[in-house]
Amino acid sequence: MTYNDIRKIFLTYFEQHGHKIVPSASLIPNDPTLLFSVAGMVQWKGVFQGTEQPIAPRVANVQKCIRAGGKHNDLEDVGFDGRHHTFFEMLGNWSFGDYFKEGAIEMSWELLTKVIGLDPNRIVVTTHISDDEATAIWKKITGKDAIRLDKDNWWSAGETGPCGPCTEMHYDFGPDVPGGLPGSPDEDGGRFVEIWNDVFMQYDRDANGNLTPLPKQNVDTGAGLERWAAVLQNKLDNYDTDLFANLKSAVSDLTGVKETEENKPSFKIITDHLRAVGFAIADGVIPSNADRGYVIRRILRRAMRHGQILGHKGELLSALYPALVKEMGDAYPELKTQEKHVVEIIKNEENSFADMLQNGMKLLESELPKVNNNILPGEIAFKLFDTYGFPLDLTQMILRDKKMDVDVDSFEKCMKEQKERSRADTRGTRVLWESQTDLPATDDSEKYEAETNRTAKVLSILRGEEFVKSANPGDAVEIALDHTPFYGTQGGQVGDMGVFKIGDKIVMNVAETNRVGNVVIHKGTLTEPVSIGDEVIPEINLTVRQQTARAHTATHLLQAALRQVLNEDVEQRGSKVAPDSVRFDFSFGRAMSAEEKQSVEDLVNKWIAQNLTVSHEEMDIESAKKRGAMALFGEKYGDRVRVITAGDVSCELCGGTHVYHTGEIIKARINKEKSISSGIRRITMSVGTLAE
Ligand code: SER
Repeated sequence: MTYNDIRKIFLTYFEQHGHKIVPSASLIPNDPTLLFSVAGMVQWKGVFQGTEQPIAPRVANVQKCIRAGGKHNDLEDVGFDGRHHTFFEMLGNWSFGDYFKEGAIEMSWELLTKVIGLDPNRIVVTTHISDDEATAIWKKITGKDAIRLDKDNWWSAGETGPCGPCTEMHYDFGPDVPGGLPGSPDEDGGRFVEIWNDVFMQYDRDANGNLTPLPKQNVDTGAGLERWAAVLQNKLDNYDTDLFANLKSAVSDLTGVKETEENKPSFKIITDHLRAVGFAIADGVIPSNADRGYVIRRILRRAMRHGQILGHKGELLSALYPALVKEMGDAYPELKTQEKHVVEIIKNEENSFADMLQNGMKLLESELPKVNNNILPGEIAFKLFDTYGFPLDLTQMILRDKKMDVDVDSFEKCMKEQKERSRADTRGTRVLWESQTDLPATDDSEKYEAETNRTAKVLSILRGEEFVKSANPGDAVEIALDHTPFYGTQGGQVGDMGVFKIGDKIVMNVAETNRVGNVVIHKGTLTEPVSIGDEVIPEINLTVRQQTARAHTATHLLQAALRQVLNEDVEQRGSKVAPDSVRFDFSFGRAMSAEEKQSVEDLVNKWIAQNLTVSHEEMDIESAKKRGAMALFGEKYGDRVRVITAGDVSCELCGGTHVYHTGEIIKARINKEKSISSGIRRITMSVGTLAE
């Protein structure tokens, strides 16, 4: 039975048992608590929690999964046994308040023993220590006594969210294979392999670990397709099943190297990583320095190192991708439709790392003879990271072969020092303000209302590097007030300019407003003496405020237009919103054509001409998500969020200042579009009178 056969048999069985068959969800989950889809249930979280309606009471699919970061992370183990993968396919069936424990166990058992014909005597089952009900059901249906386990038989996708007790089915490869029963100290030996997990989703876990019963009793099952293939093809090693055998021969063809016992880990790592990198990029991930982009970059670099071990120079995963398409493109058509894009992105990434890998290896090899106690100093690992782009786990993987490790503590210390250096370089007086721990948070709740005439009290004055009680005309100072309508630079939007007055007299010109933690800092030059305790009237420059607001709303329109013209995977990676000017960084794998740039600009100007209403609303995060508001990945949002909506064109979570009608933007003009790093493009755009 091949992978293609198994997928078909599984889905047909559940279709015949009243399940709606749905395609795999994207590897990029709609869930900020997870980097990747780690299980089939990820897309059903809202259904379990009762915030979304199920599309049917019973559903089944084959889901693409990646477990390479966060709570579920198998990256380090890949290559060194026959069972671990970063990318894998999960067969799954779900009941949303329909059948529960008995139905789930009955169907799992029938499919395993009657449909695919496994020997019932070779199946061992486990249940949760607390779960007498599932244990009794197993006894009734099969006559088997379940092994009762604790933490192994409780399942959740993340630290919070739906969870519940589970029951696992393990296949016994027989007494010739070393390894003990599930739950025994040598359970990882390989004789028993978990082939299916039925989770009874009953609870919702909050951040404090409290369990609340879910509105309904649900079933969430998951079975690793690679393991089923291994069992059904009688292979102890998943990497010897048909799909992997074909991918490994593609590796041999490319590198001219045959697989041996010794180089087997490299074959496993390359084929595993090919799937993770290929599928992730096809779903819109771009290798980068943050979040899931960094996970994919690390995986790709590990694969390249193993290409190097096989003596291979030049492009590796990009050259192997067609073999992946051949093997899996029928089951996952996106591999084919995205082929050009994926190959291009991988090539870029491989080309930019190739020289660094060579040179970094030279450095590492020159350092190895000096190593004491088999521990590489953290400073060297840091240099490899900083100069040659070696992620820490890549260095560790290389050293693992030599039975060495990295001094991780000193590596982390170097990382921390570097962060502090760059903070000091770029943020000037920030450290000084950070030392003012007594200073209360500034109340800046008036910042969206713009015009206010309230007086505010001067709480702190920094002149040069010194906090002073009072300062004089001509002094360059930074001042914190008890409250302010000034918007301090954040979320990519530059802060306000304006003046402080006492009565009608201007006492300070504010050139810049920043934030340090929760304190708003006004930076500028005094025109009159000012002392701590003075009451001043902070007045923002409304022209500049309006120029910045129109640039910010235009940024949202730009993002919406890019997603419409290029594709839905375009994601914001950074931005700078200044008076009448926008810099917008986004994930996209190639240069935009002149026509695409024109279409984007035209679309933004069309929406400006339509004078769409821009609403600014505060709501709880759940309502915002329901409304489909776009969030920045990796950004932490509180319970209350602001949602900025422009007509039906754009809806984003955003703390910035905005216009009320798109017509206020007047005009937008794209000035430049260029690459800033592999897979990331930057657009600069003018708006308002500047664009005109
Ligand atoms: N979510 C469970 C698992 O991943 C069952 O699908 O094991």
